[in-house]
Amino acid sequence: MDRILIRGGNRLSGRLPISGAKNAALTLMPCALLTEEPLTLRNLPRLADVDGFGHLLNQLGVSTMVEGSRPDEFGRVMTLKAGRLTSTVAPYDIVRKMRASILVLGPLVGRAGEATVSLPGGCAIGNRPIDLHLKAMEALGAEIELAAGYVKAMAPGGRLPGGRVSFPIVSVGATENALMAAVLAKGPSVIENAAREPEIVDLCNCLVAMGASISGIGTETIEIEGRDRLHGATYRVMPDRIEAGSYACAAAITGGSLDLVGVAAADMRATTAALIDAGVTIEEHADFLRVTATNGLSPLTLSTAPFPGFATDMQAQFMAMLCMADGASVLTETIFENRYMHVPELARMGADIQVRGRTAVVRGVDKMIGAPVMATDLRASMSLILAGLAAEGETQVQRVYHLDRGYERLEEKLSAVGADIERVSDG
Ligand code: UD1
Repeated sequence: MDRILIRGGNRLSGRLPISGAKNAALTLMPCALLTEEPLTLRNLPRLADVDGFGHLLNQLGVSTMVEGSRPDEFGRVMTLKAGRLTSTVAPYDIVRKMRASILVLGPLVGRAGEATVSLPGGCAIGNRPIDLHLKAMEALGAEIELAAGYVKAMAPGGRLPGGRVSFPIVSVGATENALMAAVLAKGPSVIENAAREPEIVDLCNCLVAMGASISGIGTETIEIEGRDRLHGATYRVMPDRIEAGSYACAAAITGGSLDLVGVAAADMRATTAALIDAGVTIEEHADFLRVTATNGLSPLTLSTAPFPGFATDMQAQFMAMLCMADGASVLTETIFENRYMHVPELARMGADIQVRGRTAVVRGVDKMIGAPVMATDLRASMSLILAGLAAEGETQVQRVYHLDRGYERLEEKLSAVGADIERVSDG
């Protein structure tokens, strides 16, 4: 198994390219299920999760073709074509490894009138049920059956009538599934209390490019007129605001300066506002965001919230950064329970963090010390990379497969801006 080795203490500086967004990619790829014509996605990040999702789509009869991307380029172009669906089943083996597999539910029911998806089971960052996805399918007219660890959704007569989906809490994935099911429904649909994340806007824009009729994009009430069919399209995946935010924290924690190239600054205002509060300078340029930290870091009080609030996917990275702030910070996680698994690992590197329920108090320390560490999820692993960049001595981050799910060529991007970081393979 690979490990990442970091010798900390280098200030980062230079240009760092931002890849296409993982979470957008994972909801744009299943859009290919909605039409027999090809969907070409540009700027897809090269990530294990994208490969995994491609594999799942292949099992459903979707062909995937990757076009000429050179090994030294970031991103790639993939053409997905679902001429004829050969299966409507997302099996346990794939779903248990990649929770985002649930995102085939909506488009399969929309196009084929049925879908059978394994229940995802336990997840490292909490319980993460799928009840809202199922309620959304029901509200659009599907019948739901649960048996033998699988959920089957069926549209009576083979096509959903459409309907009113009213979410009791904001869910990104359930909003995405509802949208992808509703675009091919017989009648109109409304989604109330919809998620407003930029990845939802990206999904809507792609669906519109495929011929869908959607209004209220980016608001909490989305209206959809069902269409008889959608057509193919070429669509560019939005930049990854979480990857960009993570590298902004890397600049901050090392007292460095990074130009994050290709970001969409408007999608990450909560992150940049928090960095500014911590004393970091942010300059918006036409095609890059300059993040500079020179005067030490101030402590923060932050609470995660659905967009436009502070993203739960940035919580772990900010926690690592605030370990080096001058004073005590208070972080509250409101989206997922059990999303503090990085805390004991950061503590092994010298962090002073106390967790009570959903709140963590982070007292800044003068220095962190490198150590062998491991994390159980993607963003938690990134927080350990950040701590390693600032720590004295050597940090070994194990279970690199978590990072490979969501950060395209992390060690290459970081070493190009001055980090002493390498991947070592045990075998
Ligand atoms: C997506 C993102 C993830 C991010 C999260 C919140 C992808 C692939 N993943 O995850 O990186 O951290 O949004 O921004 O895009 N919930 C239920 N029932 C459901 C669905 C969700 O109770 O059926 C709860 C969850 O447990 C959680 C909250 O709703 O407490 C929000 O989760 P949700 O927005 O659905 O997250 P994901 O779509 O899974």
